[in-house]
Amino acid sequence: MCGIIGVLGEHQAAPLMVEALKRLEYRGYDSAGIATVHEGRLDRRRAVGKLVNLQDLLVDSPLAGRAGIGHTRWATHGAPTVSNAHPHAAGPVAVVHNGIIENFRELRAELSALGVNFESETDTETVAQLVAHHLRQGKSPAEAAQATFGRLEGAFALALLFDGEEDLLIAARLGSPLAVGHGEGEMFVGSDAIALAPLTDRVTYLDEGDWAVVTRAGVQVYDKTNAPVERPVKRIAIDAARIEKGGHRHFMAKEIAEQPTVLGEMLGHYLDASGDIHFPDALPDFGTVDRLVMVACGTAFYACQTAKYWFEQLAGLPVEIDIASEFRYRQPPIGANTAALFVSQSGETADTLAALRHCKGRASHILSVVNVPESSIARESDLALPIRAGVEVGVASTKAFTCQLGVLALLAVRAAEARGRLDAAGVAEKIGMLRSVPGLMNLTLGLEPEIERLAGGLAEARDILFLGRGPMYPLALEGALKLKEISYIHAEGYASGELKHGPIALIDQAVPVIVFAPTDGLFDKTVSNMQEVMARHGQVLLITDKAGAARAAEGTWETLVMPTCDPLFAPIVYALPAQLLAYYTALAKGTDVDQPRNLAKSVTVE
Ligand code: G6P
Repeated sequence: MCGIIGVLGEHQAAPLMVEALKRLEYRGYDSAGIATVHEGRLDRRRAVGKLVNLQDLLVDSPLAGRAGIGHTRWATHGAPTVSNAHPHAAGPVAVVHNGIIENFRELRAELSALGVNFESETDTETVAQLVAHHLRQGKSPAEAAQATFGRLEGAFALALLFDGEEDLLIAARLGSPLAVGHGEGEMFVGSDAIALAPLTDRVTYLDEGDWAVVTRAGVQVYDKTNAPVERPVKRIAIDAARIEKGGHRHFMAKEIAEQPTVLGEMLGHYLDASGDIHFPDALPDFGTVDRLVMVACGTAFYACQTAKYWFEQLAGLPVEIDIASEFRYRQPPIGANTAALFVSQSGETADTLAALRHCKGRASHILSVVNVPESSIARESDLALPIRAGVEVGVASTKAFTCQLGVLALLAVRAAEARGRLDAAGVAEKIGMLRSVPGLMNLTLGLEPEIERLAGGLAEARDILFLGRGPMYPLALEGALKLKEISYIHAEGYASGELKHGPIALIDQAVPVIVFAPTDGLFDKTVSNMQEVMARHGQVLLITDKAGAARAAEGTWETLVMPTCDPLFAPIVYALPAQLLAYYTALAKGTDVDQPRNLAKSVTVE
């Protein structure tokens, strides 16, 4: 949510910052802007809408200078207008910000009383005005920044640039991630390693409450008590190819297509040749855990909801799941033998992080399943298990979802083993099933032209329902989420058996109903629910296997025949048609697949 870049370079900063903002645009794209200091003078350019508008502006009105800060915005306070776009400037300072300054109204009132005039509606301008106020009192930039940071409440990653200072950036973080990049005679600041990857592979992650004075000679970090501290410089390895589209039209298409590969690689990481699962020693002994609490947001929550079936069915382990924004405020009691597991692609989602902090000191273990190993959620966990999906850029999560499911499936098998529910042969059977999933995904990708054709029939719908039972129920929810995120068609997921308790009132011939129904123990019940829809002229798209199609395809609007897979892990394979239907429906509607309106990939505000 909101991307930040800062550059103290050897060459012109603007082109580097625009390239970095392109890599950060997944975090927000309501407006973008940059500021530089050139010949001692601070100047800025800002434009509403996608980054391309800022690029156009810079063609007409270039910005010179080797020192600069840049920002891509996901609006929180104030509409996406030029005056609300970052960088915000006040006298001799410019500021870019990710997060929310919760006490900005008090600060604004205080400054207004001193005669300060504000030009935007944002919380961020308060930071710039407060720094400017301290500079007017005769403080140095570092003193003014320190005095300002001490007054801020809420969540922030900030980068400050000063008039007359061509070798100075000041950065701070509380709640929102920020990293400092070390170059050769150059230094950088960025929201994440993706922003910095082509610029340097040496990165210092700021800790909670840290702030930093950055010059070309290096960085001095201060902790929240303003004491100078050393933070390690880490080598990052981000394959540049993983942040390109690789010949695909969209990142989402590339990320869907990558799934067999990244899932296979992830399984190869956690499994040895003989099929033994290797998790770090810090993994809790599931044999002694009484309860597992799983918390996440969005797609990651649906991964938890799917895994609940696996932990309960395979391991007999009671599981509670919740969305993070609810969990953190209902103050659930956490028993001493409760392990808490947080699932997050970015590892930075503010609500999930807050839920994790609520469990600290209460749960017996804090585990996380993340895609970004250096993220806040990973760093604050007792043990973080990476899903190893590689950088996911498309706002609609795809490969992260299936890799989350893969890691959670391995954990459920390990828990079943530890609780004496699966013997060696049982474990080998389940691992064999998981190992077949990448191949089944490849076969499913072969159905892409067929799915594209089916999506053509969905694009005109006003409402679409998704149905599933058992582990296919969370997939129905995820299918509906994917579709509404990128095609803007209203979609809802329901447990098939719940349909008759209300949603069936929505059914008529204009409402497509997508049914996920591999042949499993619940198949006949799901088919009965499907018949109830068809009896009311609902248009059913049945997604099933060969045996299921032979038994139930008659009378459906369309039937997609999937490769036959074991029902237990079928949600991982059936995720692909859910994703592809959303993708091709969005293409048919002409929406912006990778950057859908109003959304952002990483949500670092509550
Ligand atoms: C945002 C994204 C979703 C994602 C959710 C949770 O809403 O648009 O795709 O599922 O955040 O993100 P996380 O990084 O915690 O998995």
